[in-house]
Order: sequence, then structure tokens, then C-alpha cells
Amino acid sequence: MKVAVLGAAGGIGQALSLLLKTQLPAGSELSLYDVAPVVPGVAVDLSHIPTDVTVKGYGADSLADALTGCDIVIIPAGMPRKPGMDRADLFAVNAGIIKTLAEGIVANCPKALVGVITNPVNGTVPIVAEVFKKAGTYEANRVFGVTTLDVIRSETFIAELKGLSTSDVKVPVIGGHSGTTILPLLSQVEGVEFSQEEIDALTPRIQNAGTEVVNAKAGGGSATLSMGAAAARFCMSLVKGLQGEDVIDYAYVEGNTGDAAYFAQPVRLGKNGVEEYLPYGALSAYEENAKNEMLATLNADIQEGVDFIA
Ligand code: NAD
Ligand code: LMR
Repeated sequence: MKVAVLGAAGGIGQALSLLLKTQLPAGSELSLYDVAPVVPGVAVDLSHIPTDVTVKGYGADSLADALTGCDIVIIPAGMPRKPGMDRADLFAVNAGIIKTLAEGIVANCPKALVGVITNPVNGTVPIVAEVFKKAGTYEANRVFGVTTLDVIRSETFIAELKGLSTSDVKVPVIGGHSGTTILPLLSQVEGVEFSQEEIDALTPRIQNAGTEVVNAKAGGGSATLSMGAAAARFCMSLVKGLQGEDVIDYAYVEGNTGDAAYFAQPVRLGKNGVEEYLPYGALSAYEENAKNEMLATLNADIQEGVDFIA
């Protein structure tokens, strides 16, 4: 298994790389790429941890070497938010970064599974897909927007509210990854009932959790440690799928819900990435209304990504 982290010297990249060094199967290779000159040092640092995962660092001129032979590529490269910014404000800077990295993947490991973390995810995933389409190598089942942070936040907040163990709480989150496009399906949380008052408080708390971190870090960036944990969890789902295990997870994909061209939904993972697109099930009236109200925003975000490549 060869896994590349693009943007590996950043806040998310370092946390994710640490977790992958300790969680990837023995014999795996972890390939760390970043334009920041510290990346070889991050690789040397991680290489001293006693696991059977080889770590190599690659600087600005070595994208091809970092990507060659990769089975999975996770991308947290790019600028994070500061207080007062929306994720959409990052498009101007991050769209070009994602385009360049996607072109590198097309040229060096077109069959890799690609997990995009870089914001705005609603628009950066379509950029990756369009670069692949232009090259004639696009397979929708191999490209994912990582929305796992919305899932783990939902698990945490609900466990806290209801006095449960987080391991007993499973929460479907559908839609996109910004503001109201993040839609936790509280009506589907097994074994837990919510009052309307709780739904009215929890839904926006989950939707605005990223802003909660951005404001708390007061100009020092956005979520990095929780995102590292979320990205490692999603990457390990991809790894298990590649190893032949039957895994179901949520991700932002060009799927089959019919709501928008790209939409976070449950997917069955396997040796080719998505093996099956699964339905998200029945929504409550509250969730149906929230879904319908967010679609204009999500579709505009998607179109911005498509237009960037067109
Ligand atoms: P950071 O600034 O700490 O790290 C970003 C890294 O990207 C830096 O090391 C930088 O050198 C590198 N980089 C910049 N251009 C690059 C390029 N062309 N090639 C390779 N590397 C490049 O930022 P962070 O806190 O790690 O956040 C990274 C991104 O992840 C941001 O866009 C942020 O908004 C996003 N994010 C997404 C989620 C999510 O749920 N999907 C959660 C948190 C953050
Ligand atoms: C998050 O949800 O924490 C990330 O998308 C980062 C951000 O800008 O909020």
C-alpha cells in the first residue's frame, strides 16, 4: 500500500501523517509531499517511530516521485480560513493548488483513490473530477471529498448531549461541507430521540463547528487535529476497502442521489473505491426542508469548480 499526503507539512498534514504512520498496514509506504522546505524533516521525524511503515519526504520539485505507484492520495494542501472568512473565500487561492495537484495525479497515478480535504470541498472535488475528465482518466468511484469531520463532530456532540459513549453513536451526514450544506440526519441516529428544541440547537452547532474552531484559534488557522483524526479514519476505510473488506462510509462523491451532481452520501467501499452508492434513507420533514433550502448554495459551489477548469 502506498499512500501520499499532499500538503504533509501543514497542520492537518502532520497530524494525519503521524496517525497513518501508526495505523497503515505493515509494509506500507507513506509519501509526504509539500512545497514547504520543512517536509523532509517531517518525514525524518516520523521515520523514527517504530512501525513497519516506510516514510519518505518529497519537496516542491518532486511531485511525480511522491505520486508514482500510489494507491491512495489524500490532499490537505492549501490555505485555511481566518475569522470572518467563509470557506468559499478560499477558492481563489486553493483552486489553482488543487488543479496542479490533480494534474500530477493524472500523470503519475491515475488509478489512485483520491481524498480531497482542501476547502472549499464543495468546489475543489469538482475541480479534481474535471481535471481527470479532461485527461480521459476520470472514474467517479475513485474521487472523494472528505466529510468525515462532520461525522465525528456529530458523534461527539450527540454523545456529550445524551451522556453516551461516542462508540455507540453513529450519525449519517449528507450534502456538502460548508454551513447549511452540511446536513446531519438526526432522525436516523439509532436508539436516540431528540426534541425539536435539541434538533434546532444541534443542527446549526454541527454546521458551524468549523467556525467555532476558527474563532477559537483567533487567526491561527482552522481545525487541524480533529481533521487529522477524521482524515485518518476515512483513509483507513479506503485502505480496508482496497484490502477486500466490506466497508460503508460517508463521503462527498459524484453519486446517484439526484439532489446535486456532487453530494455526501453513504457508499460501500472496496477494491475500486466506491463499489456501490447507497441511499441515505427517509428524511424527517425538517431534514427534507433543510436539504431543499441548501441545494442552490451547493449547486453554485459545484458550478464554480466546474467552471474553473472549463
Ligand atoms: P496549513 O496552512 O497548516 O497547511 C497547508 C499546507 O499546504 C502547508 O504546509 C503548505 O505549504 C501546503 N501547500 C500549499 N500549497 C501547496 C502545493 N501547491 N502543494 C503542496 N502543498 C502545498 O493548513 P491546514 O490547517 O492543514 O488546512 C489545509 C486545508 O484543509 C485548508 O484549505 C482548510 O480549509 C482545509 N480543511 C478542510 C477540512 C475538511 O473537513 N474537509 C477540515 C479542516 C481544514
Ligand atoms: C472545518 O470544518 O473545520 C473545516 O472545513 C475548516 C473550516 O474552515 O471550517
